[in-house]
Amino acid sequence: MKVTVVGAGAVGASCAEYIAIKNFASEVVLLDIKEGYAEGKAMDLMQTASLNSFDTKIVGSTNDYAKTAGSDVVVITSGIPRKPGMTREELIGINAGIVKEVSSNLIEHSPEAIIIVVSNPMDTMTYLVHKTTGLPKNRIIGMGGALDSARFKYRLAEALEAPISDIDGMVIGGHSDTGMVPLTRLATRNSVPVTEFISEERLDQVKEDTKVGGATLTKLLGTSAWYAPGAAVSALVQAIACDQKKVFPCSAMLEGEYGLSDICIGVPVVLGASGIEKIVEIELSDAEKEAISNSAEGVSKTNGLLSL
Ligand code: LMR
Repeated sequence: MKVTVVGAGAVGASCAEYIAIKNFASEVVLLDIKEGYAEGKAMDLMQTASLNSFDTKIVGSTNDYAKTAGSDVVVITSGIPRKPGMTREELIGINAGIVKEVSSNLIEHSPEAIIIVVSNPMDTMTYLVHKTTGLPKNRIIGMGGALDSARFKYRLAEALEAPISDIDGMVIGGHSDTGMVPLTRLATRNSVPVTEFISEERLDQVKEDTKVGGATLTKLLGTSAWYAPGAAVSALVQAIACDQKKVFPCSAMLEGEYGLSDICIGVPVVLGASGIEKIVEIELSDAEKEAISNSAEGVSKTNGLLSL
């Protein structure tokens, strides 16, 4: 399994690190436009290999896409992160051009690859990659929901004072401060609904904290987060590499599912060797249906800013 990660900034390097540490890929190529930067990060990471017991080879490249040739999975983290006070949607002007160019270059060298999109605004960038590459919908995956769900579980565990391994929960909808739809109704602690442990009021707080998870970290760090995004990507790549058939909420191109079409937005999918092997349609409550429809409206509005 060969994986390419484009963008050797904090998120890209964190993706490469987690993928390598899990030891399921033979090679990770880290590519960046900044001269020597990806090579430096790759060398630094390779010098952790004997300490962290992995055999994955990490190779750095300054914008030489020939080195990415034959990748099975490619991850796009390129573009700029938001600063405190910004929304992800405000990044569209700069990131759209970058993501378009990167996705074309990647597919030229790895025509069979599955693409995972991380750059923001993530749902719109996933849509842009569809329009740019024309690949089948199973091969383009937006990462946001996997990350948002990890943050949801963190907040639930905190509220329930429970171990995270006891918690299950999922966030669907757009990867934006207002568009996320944490499915509190379905969240459980070891199969018991979380409402058995905390009040509706506390659960509403968990929901709100989850939705602004990225913004909260951006305010604390002065730039956007990288550990959880990197870990979320590595979980998706592993599900594909190891044909795990795991369910993750990911941004997928919808063709009628959830009553939506020609939009990429977070929904539960089964991830395996072919990428998105199935979009799982769950029965939503009226309130959840309304929330996903509002979320889709927001994503469509941002998609409308693309020049396709
Ligand atoms: C995240 O959620 O951490 C990323 O989408 C980055 C951001 O801008 O919040």
